[in-house]
Amino acid sequence: MKGVILAGGTATRLAPCTDVTNKHLLPVYNKPMIYFPLETLISGGIRDIMIVSGKDHAGDFAKLLASGQEFGVNLSYRVQEEAGGIAQALSLAGDFADDDGITVILGDNIFEDEIRLHVQAFKIQGDGARIFLKEVNMESARRFGIAVVEGDRVTYVEEKPENPKSNLAMTGLYMFDKNIFHFIKDLKPSERGEFEITDAIDIYCQAGTLGYNMIQGFWSDAGTFESLYRASTLVKEKKSK
Ligand code: G1P
Repeated sequence: MKGVILAGGTATRLAPCTDVTNKHLLPVYNKPMIYFPLETLISGGIRDIMIVSGKDHAGDFAKLLASGQEFGVNLSYRVQEEAGGIAQALSLAGDFADDDGITVILGDNIFEDEIRLHVQAFKIQGDGARIFLKEVNMESARRFGIAVVEGDRVTYVEEKPENPKSNLAMTGLYMFDKNIFHFIKDLKPSERGEFEITDAIDIYCQAGTLGYNMIQGFWSDAGTFESLYRASTLVKEKKSK
């Protein structure tokens, strides 16, 4: 299976740092942020990886990661002309994905877990999609997508709910069959003017083909100064264990 790292967006929440570079190149403790999602994909045995970034600092990703040889992977790059949301960024990988489906990870998501078993679980699932959930407190649930589960299926998803129906946050790791690229084409922009990945996930949810796994180790996004600090601390603590 191939993988995509979505590293676009304007990252205004990290200004002024992001006035001169891309969020995903900022350090999380001792490494550029993008190393973490890259290593997560590699932990799943994924070797063909596309990085989608905005046009302003696209060259810096190539300068940092080059062909991917240093990591034992094959990297390709694509540029998102305008920041239009996660789903819109993913649509750029339509011709890159093959029939095995695609693993997608957000460039600002830091996972402790390795994902080899998750990739295998998705292969066994065969079609549909799979999301990865982490329990958070109800206050935090408002700033993520959330999911309600019953047995081994997801029955409800919602992006940034005012009154969360669950405290299971959708992390920025997803596995999709090829239909995702058809679903994205039919999406309408959300109230915040973005094509939301959660709206595409909802189509799988309604069709009853959305599976999930729980994330066991730490997980953090790193898109605000608070969460960037938290992610750095978690990485530092793990390193000194
Ligand atoms: C995005 C997704 C959200 C998910 C989060 C994880 O939110 O839309 O569903 O829970 O990533 O980091 P954003 O970071 O764009 O606010």
